[in-house]
Amino acid sequence: MKYQIITFGCQMNKNDSQRISAMLQKLKFSPASEINEADLVVINVCSVRQSAVDRAIAISQKLKVKSQNHNSKVKTVITGCILKKDKERFQRIANAVLDVLNIKNLPQILKDLGFQIKETKIKNYLKVAPKYDKNPVAYVPIMTGCNNFCAYCVVPYTRGPERSRPPQDILCEVKNWLKQEVKEIWLLGQNVNSYKFKLKTQNSCSQGRRAKLKTTTQKSKLIDFAKLLKMVNDLPGDFWIKFTSSHPKNLTDELIETMAKCKKVTPYINLPVQTGDDEILKRMNRPYTVAHYKKLVKKLRNAFKKYRKGLEKEIAISTDIIVGFPGEKRKHFENTKKLFKEIGFFMAYIAKYSPRPGTSAYHLKDDVLPQEKDKREKELTEIVKKTAFEFNKKFVGKVVDVLVLKKKKGFYFGKTRHYQTIKFPASKKNLIGQFVKVKVTKARDFGLEGTQ
Ligand code: SAH
Ligand code: SF4
Ligand code: F3S
Repeated sequence: MKYQIITFGCQMNKNDSQRISAMLQKLKFSPASEINEADLVVINVCSVRQSAVDRAIAISQKLKVKSQNHNSKVKTVITGCILKKDKERFQRIANAVLDVLNIKNLPQILKDLGFQIKETKIKNYLKVAPKYDKNPVAYVPIMTGCNNFCAYCVVPYTRGPERSRPPQDILCEVKNWLKQEVKEIWLLGQNVNSYKFKLKTQNSCSQGRRAKLKTTTQKSKLIDFAKLLKMVNDLPGDFWIKFTSSHPKNLTDELIETMAKCKKVTPYINLPVQTGDDEILKRMNRPYTVAHYKKLVKKLRNAFKKYRKGLEKEIAISTDIIVGFPGEKRKHFENTKKLFKEIGFFMAYIAKYSPRPGTSAYHLKDDVLPQEKDKREKELTEIVKKTAFEFNKKFVGKVVDVLVLKKKKGFYFGKTRHYQTIKFPASKKNLIGQFVKVKVTKARDFGLEGTQ
């Protein structure tokens, strides 16, 4: 029995796919080298924007037509972040549809579809270890779900409420990755800053020399994200820590200081602002102001200046932005442009607003024309190009640590600690998956070039 998984969406979905892969291999499936060979295709969908849903539908339809034409027995299962409204549509084109929250039912579903498997009960899918795919970068979910209900966003509906994983499970998973020579760990969550876990600690204490009186007290200790970050940082080994996403409303002073003090945490943060206008922020149900965001950026920059040396004194800041949210007029958008110029982001994930059924913004009129959304996206891209180039220029002539990720057409490509992409001539030696020193020779808008 052979399988293939097609993944859409964020790192969270990619990590789920690794777990599904591990689950399937436990059930005696093996990976197919190409889709035509597969008996089972799992499509892991993302609903954050309509375009991702449309692509998933197109692929599922193609598979259905192909299997009908060739009389093949390929079965398709659709899972991931699925909106209620899309469920029926997916059901019509796939053999089974399964919410990400119910992924533990996958063995039963496969049995119902006629696959010969011994049923295995899985209580919590996060207990299934993800499959190692020789990638030097590993993603470790520390929490799932979201309680924030930003007006435009599907995640609270598709992934349910926030749940934090026990720190022991997270540390154990990180240690396992490190044993497999993973060099960079990403701690994942829709809002990592609100990670919270009540850890029960047992304190046994004997009193007196003869220890007649032994009392056991149950205490609980609250582990928040700052504490967790420190725990991961304290694990032995030479590795980097990154995390995503951070919500500006929960980025505390303590967390900023912990980040700057923990040297394995690299000088990079993705801090989604979504818009640079207070009125739109309010309508998006993002409970902070632009002034608060700017203050956070200042604090982050100061903390890294204080606790780090050399190039690390400067932190790379990226953001997420939505252009064309309902009611976003030119004047609101100009405020976003102003913020972009002021902060000097080194990267920005710019999305055009896409109405999502079920979210609170869905009933608002999607009143920014598509061509205007395109225009705003381009205008912001132009600003980021400039600010990123300014940021990257500071690295020219310096030697940076690089995690080598791939080789293509005579060049190695890797990432710096600041999360810049760097390209340098490939040597004969295989350096993929290793840390190397590279001298930066050139800065580009979105990346660096160098030599070893
Ligand atoms: N939890 C993260 C974001 C997760 S979704 C956070 O709060 O920052 C990833 C990104 O997709 C968001 O940051 C947002 O910029 C974008 N996005 C979410 N819903 C969208 C929608 N309806 N239309 C366009 N972009 C959207
Ligand atoms: Fe979506 Fe907002 Fe939650 Fe991020 S914080 S996942 S944008 S609801
Ligand atoms: Fe998409 Fe789900 Fe991630 S909706 S962005 S795959 S959490």
